[in-house]
Amino acid sequence: MTTEVTLRDVLDDDLPIFFEQQNDPIANEMAAFPAREREAFMAHWAKNLRNPNAIHKTILYNGEIAGNIVGFDMEGQREVGYWLGREFWGKGIASKALAEFLKYETTRPLHGVTIKHNIGSQQVLKKCGFEYERQENDELFFVLNA
Ligand SMILES: CC(C)(COP(=O)(O)OP(=O)(O)OC[C@H]1O[C@@H](n2cnc3c(N)ncnc32)[C@H](O)[C@@H]1OP(=O)(O)O)[C@@H](O)C(=O)NCCC(=O)NCCS
Repeated sequence: MTTEVTLRDVLDDDLPIFFEQQNDPIANEMAAFPAREREAFMAHWAKNLRNPNAIHKTILYNGEIAGNIVGFDMEGQREVGYWLGREFWGKGIASKALAEFLKYETTRPLHGVTIKHNIGSQQVLKKCGFEYERQENDELFFVLNA
């Protein structure tokens, strides 16, 4: 058994697991991001996976699907996003996954946005070299320049 954090391309079979992982009130509160209904979630992912300009990876931990990490264009900027199932939190997985993801997602500057109270996500960004940029309302903006 491997305890390595690895990334691979997203498979259709991953989507029901991603759905359950985002359909979690505690995670939704942490990220200040509401859960999508199943149909909307599947349509959102199907559309995103067809977008050749976006990068989507499944995060594996011990061979289990721990979550996903994505790079995409948002309002003219390149942004990274990630989401883990709750049972995978607090093991350093997101930090390792983001460090690995930066080998695939090479756009710079690369932006990360978190709600002010999402300390975990801010720590993940900082550990991977992102610098605090600014606050707008309740959102904190981070950037990786190199
Ligand atoms: C945010 C999230 C990705 C963090 O994942 P994780 O694998 O638990 O993060 P790590 O274990 O790599 O932790 C990185 C650092 O943040 C700290 N941290 C993690 N969660 C924390 C929390 N809830 N409160 C305070 N610190 C936290 C860790 O202690 C660690 O710090 P250290 O290296 O100094 O010890 C995960 O909780 C998650 O998926 N949440 C729901 C979705 C979400 O918020 N996505 C991001 C939206 S911007």
